Amino acid sequence: MCQQSIYQRCFFNLIWSIACIIHFSPVVTSEDTYFPVEKVEKLLEKRAGSPWWFANIARHGTVPFNSDPNYVLYRNVADYGAVGDGHANDTQAFLDAFFLGPRCVGQFDPVNPCQSSTIQPAIVYVPPGTYFLTNRIIMPYNSIIIGDALDMPTLKASADFNDIAILDPDPYVSGNDQWYANQNNFFRQVRNLILDTTNTGVSSTVAGVHWQVAQATSLQNLVFNMIVSKDENNKQQGIFMENGSGGFMRDLIFNGGGIGFFLGNQQFTSTNLTFNNCYKGIRMNQNWLWSFKDITFNGCTIGIDMVQAGDPSIGPGSPSLGSAILADSTFINTDTGIVSTYNCSYSKPASAGTLIVDNVDFTGAGIAIRNPNGTVILPGGSVVAGFMAGNVYSAQYAQRFFPNHDNQTCYVPQAIPSCYQEAYTPPTKPAGLLGPNGKVFDRAKPAYDDFTVSQFISAKVDFGCAGDGVADDSDCLQNLFNSVNFNQVAYIDGGAYVVTKPIFIKPNIRIMGEGWPKIMIKGGSFWGDKANPEVAFTVGNKGDIGKLEMQDIVFETQGPTPGAIVMEWNLEEDAQGSAGMWDVHWRMGGSAGTLMQENCIKTPTEVLSVADPNCFTAFLLLHITETASLYMENNWGWVADHELDQLPNDQLNIWNGRGLLIESVKPVWVVGGSFEHSQLYNYQVANAKNVYMSHIQSETAYMQDNPIATLAYPPQASWDDPDFSFCQGLTKCVKTFGLRIYNSTYVYIYGAGLYSFFQNYDSSCLVPHSCQTNAASIELSEAVYVYGLYSVGHDNMMLMDQTPLVPQGDNSNTFGESIALFEYE
Ligand SMILES: *[C@@H]1O[C@H](CO)[C@@H](O)[C@H](O)[C@H]1NC(C)=O
Ligand SMILES: *[C@@H]1O[C@H](CO)[C@@H](O)[C@H](O)[C@H]1NC(C)=O
Ligand SMILES: *[C@@H]1O[C@H](CO)[C@@H](O)[C@H](O)[C@H]1NC(C)=O
Ligand SMILES: *[C@@H]1O[C@H](CO)[C@@H](O)[C@H](O)[C@H]1NC(C)=O
Ligand SMILES: *[C@@H]1O[C@H](CO)[C@@H](O)[C@H](O)[C@H]1NC(C)=O
Ligand SMILES: *[C@@H]1O[C@H](CO)[C@@H](O)[C@H](O)[C@H]1NC(C)=O
Repeated sequence: MCQQSIYQRCFFNLIWSIACIIHFSPVVTSEDTYFPVEKVEKLLEKRAGSPWWFANIARHGTVPFNSDPNYVLYRNVADYGAVGDGHANDTQAFLDAFFLGPRCVGQFDPVNPCQSSTIQPAIVYVPPGTYFLTNRIIMPYNSIIIGDALDMPTLKASADFNDIAILDPDPYVSGNDQWYANQNNFFRQVRNLILDTTNTGVSSTVAGVHWQVAQATSLQNLVFNMIVSKDENNKQQGIFMENGSGGFMRDLIFNGGGIGFFLGNQQFTSTNLTFNNCYKGIRMNQNWLWSFKDITFNGCTIGIDMVQAGDPSIGPGSPSLGSAILADSTFINTDTGIVSTYNCSYSKPASAGTLIVDNVDFTGAGIAIRNPNGTVILPGGSVVAGFMAGNVYSAQYAQRFFPNHDNQTCYVPQAIPSCYQEAYTPPTKPAGLLGPNGKVFDRAKPAYDDFTVSQFISAKVDFGCAGDGVADDSDCLQNLFNSVNFNQVAYIDGGAYVVTKPIFIKPNIRIMGEGWPKIMIKGGSFWGDKANPEVAFTVGNKGDIGKLEMQDIVFETQGPTPGAIVMEWNLEEDAQGSAGMWDVHWRMGGSAGTLMQENCIKTPTEVLSVADPNCFTAFLLLHITETASLYMENNWGWVADHELDQLPNDQLNIWNGRGLLIESVKPVWVVGGSFEHSQLYNYQVANAKNVYMSHIQSETAYMQDNPIATLAYPPQASWDDPDFSFCQGLTKCVKTFGLRIYNSTYVYIYGAGLYSFFQNYDSSCLVPHSCQTNAASIELSEAVYVYGLYSVGHDNMMLMDQTPLVPQGDNSNTFGESIALFEYE
């Protein structure tokens, strides 16, 4: 008689509860045959709900642009029948919570084939408890799963669990067919969970999470519990990831396992991972660029295994590994830190396996780095300030005589490559970028665990915003931001909030979205002039010092706004990291409500001399001004290259001027994330100082060079835009700069993946790896250090003062090209 609906009654009635528990415990051990009062009370307390604000806040989130006005955004697994007593089979309840829909359930679904959706999201909450699961929990596209932060729930795989992983956001259908394209598998979060596979046995490959994802995804605050057994026979894995285009993860603990983290992806940023008692902590199967920071290996046999089965030194074929950065990390009681086959004299391709080690404590490692054949490359037992395996370019100015140029002698930049496989002394980083322990500062997304529900001020209920994607919500949002204080959170309930006029965000407030509400700048004359841009969201006035925390919001436009600066950040932090943005994204065009999907389809067969005025998004996505400081974590500035909310997911011509502009001389941290497909540049650091980025990712706008970068948004000198005059008419040179550093000093980049995949939507330029001339540019700058530069499709990886210095041909990696360091001191 305890059917799903009865569970509600279990919350209120002790007798019912005991009846339910007895009735629903399929595995009854001797210990469980009677119920001590304390145990029942504990269970009841859990079911009565957690005191965490997240479990109790009134839910007003809606999903505009979905035809169903009653679409359910927030789902508590308990409401779908999950018991969480460690015995009842909770599999169906989790699936029901995720699948209440219709949701976007993959490209092979016969009824509703779907590759992506911004209008069928779900936030799934898991109360405290241990949830016994017999099959994988598929997470459809655009799903967030959040466990209770005060009492983290456990998802426990049954002994006969026989799927890829407990949580699966990209199921295989048959063979290699999957629900979603791995590199387009956006918008996912998994937080506050313990994933336990210890029941499944030492030879089981069931992972905690199958994480084959792309941008705007995160894993945070998870514990993976696996069997401890330190040898090859232990097949247990915490995360299994074969490919994708991510991504960000942090605050993960891996206990035991054969491989804590099996990884493969284009690029990823991972920080604060701890591996305890594992056989191998990290197995790098394939990647282009990986930035690891704050990693602790404790009692492992091997920390990071970078060796490929196909590596030429150990067998036929070529290695599939790209490059890695390991910074601010520690090895404790671990036999071998890193295993690598990299060798300057015979690595093939030359740069495969490039490795940068920066401030790593190998005191507790028997050997720091060794070849799989046992040869020690770097001994353990000490703190290593710096070690690099890879090509290094140190630029300098040299006199050169120009016989054809009036016989002049000029100073010109040059850089002679050298291959390093040795320790080196890294430059001192500015104190403002470092935390108290000497590591580069970082700060996790604030969770407000100690807040009560009354401290969250609802945009809809308390300030009357409609959030329906139609009504003008400018005034209510402005009032909300004006009214809240720092003991409150301006809570943007799920919805789409249209603004028609500029909004000022005063210092000392906190802003949080429910899921990813959309804040949409409406097209109109105010933001109509790309020659005279106007700011939409201003954070603080120039000179303001204070705090500001913003998380989980997507900024969009509705109709053309060619003169919009989506956000201008003027605020300076009053303590390290007190001004920050986490999982805040800019998504320009390409989705429901933006008015830029089917009307902006690509036109590669037409020679474009005009960009369609109906398909212009912003002048600039984010401007960090000279007085500002900002901590950014996992922020994605994406100009849509294809339709997300309709088939056939056509590619789009969306015109966006610029991505991220940093002009600050105060500390700025850009941790993870990506800016893609703007016209002039994706990342520009101009007139700035004290900038740290690790890592960044960029892609050139796909339509270029039809037209070239400067057609839609002519460069403006007052904005320090690149004018591409040095290209001297070569059109494949006049394309989006992935990264440009202009008139700046003390810029530290630990990982930059800069890609150019197309020439007018045609990827055949990748065969000679020549879709674009230059990936990055450094001009009039010094004290610039770019570690782990990985480029795809560029003839030249780094231009310095208009001189190409890093030819791709010398730096081949497995898919693209990479170097360990470019520096100009
Ligand atoms: C648990 O529930 C799932 C989903 O309904 C079902 O497929 C599975 O057979 C159940 N397993 C057991 C052991 O009850
Ligand atoms: C991703 O991995 C799967 C499984 O190995 C493979 O079938 C697929 O081709 C890969 N995709 C890419 C883009 O590498
Ligand atoms: C690292 O993660 C652990 C949890 O896994 C957390 O307790 C700790 O605060 C995190 N450290 C930082 C610096 O964020
Ligand atoms: C690289 O290979 C050469 C040739 O086998 C060898 O002499 C050298 O010691 C190797 N370097 C390292 C660091 O193992
Ligand atoms: C191990 O490999 C290295 C290349 O990294 C090579 O120089 C060395 O001779 C090899 N040692 C043995 C014992 O095979
Ligand atoms: C370089 O930046 C400084 C501010 O740091 C500014 O005063 C100067 O005008 C800039 N120079 C150029 C050439 O842009």
